[in-house]
Amino acid sequence: SQAANALKQVHDEQPSYSDDENAEMDWDNLGFNPIATDFMYLMKCYKDEKFVQGQLSHYGNIQLSPSAAVLNYGQGIFEGMKAHRKEDGSLLLFRPDQHAIRMKIGAERMCMPSPSIDQFVDAVKQTLLANKRWVPPPRKGSLYIRPMLIGSGSALGVAPAPEYMFFTYASPVGNYFKQGKAPLNLYVEEELIRAAPGGAGGVKSISNYGPVMKALVNAKRQGFSDVLYLDSINKKYLEELSAANIFILKGNVISTPPASGTILPGITRKSVIEIAQDLGYQVEERAISVDELREADEVFCTGTAVGVASVGSVTYQGRRIEFKVGANSACQELGSALVGIQTGLIEDEKDWVLKI
Ligand code: PLP
Ligand code: COI
Repeated sequence: SQAANALKQVHDEQPSYSDDENAEMDWDNLGFNPIATDFMYLMKCYKDEKFVQGQLSHYGNIQLSPSAAVLNYGQGIFEGMKAHRKEDGSLLLFRPDQHAIRMKIGAERMCMPSPSIDQFVDAVKQTLLANKRWVPPPRKGSLYIRPMLIGSGSALGVAPAPEYMFFTYASPVGNYFKQGKAPLNLYVEEELIRAAPGGAGGVKSISNYGPVMKALVNAKRQGFSDVLYLDSINKKYLEELSAANIFILKGNVISTPPASGTILPGITRKSVIEIAQDLGYQVEERAISVDELREADEVFCTGTAVGVASVGSVTYQGRRIEFKVGANSACQELGSALVGIQTGLIEDEKDWVLKI
């Protein structure tokens, strides 16, 4: 049929890629920087319609009208997930379906059509396979895959765009923080907030990141690793970091703020909660007052980019509170368990890893 021919043509036009093993890279010094890889995946659709068919193309700039809704009004969301290379050469993607579901929920919040779960996972798989040579060797890092959904059509008045783009690109990454795996020193921000009830803090909207840069730059200038944000109403309860969720440990109890709209419901957060419960910790999702930091044994944060990172200190109202870090910490125990599953060293009994 005509449709089948059109589809075949789309496929035939996809650039071919080779199966070469690793790209020429200094794999020992990966940070978290954009490295242009070979291919990206792109799919478009109109408002009120569904995404139908996307395709790979060479990695490169995308064209947008100056009046694109994403540029003018921030109508855009993104995801981030990692693929690891196992010793046997297989590639392991961590919970892509969960990221697909979160994108769907975010798209709904931002009045955008979204790819189906299968379309999302297929796009991520294709992006991974096409950029296979950029997946770092075992233990050197991972390939970070970034799906984005944007209002690409023009909007001069505030309104959903008439046209949308979904694309995924990839970049090899190592440690998120410049200091590597050293414990983080956090700064509690008391003036600027990240999100308020009713806002978009609970979805991965691009509009959640620009506004925190001021607090982040200010904290980094003072030598801190990142900012710990407080709730917008009482300026008293812990929320999260600029790009990671927060946990505290006291005795055998691990607590983390509830994902009730103002923090991002992290896939790593959810995974770590489950791992912690399996390991015998008691886990509580509840409001945590900033004052509880003084009593905490450990503090750590979680995120795809960040991993499970220990926090060495939190500075609040000019006082630096310190925590246990290093060997025998719960943070290390949970981090090793998670990384073990993600890299294939520990058997994946939970069906979290998609083997490619
Ligand atoms: N919080 C924020 C604000 C983030 O940007 C991220 C990163 O995705 C996270 C938390 C952690 O979420 P996940 O574990 O799904 O990567
Ligand atoms: C991730 O952890 O995947 C993120 O999206 C964080 C990013 C803002 C750096």
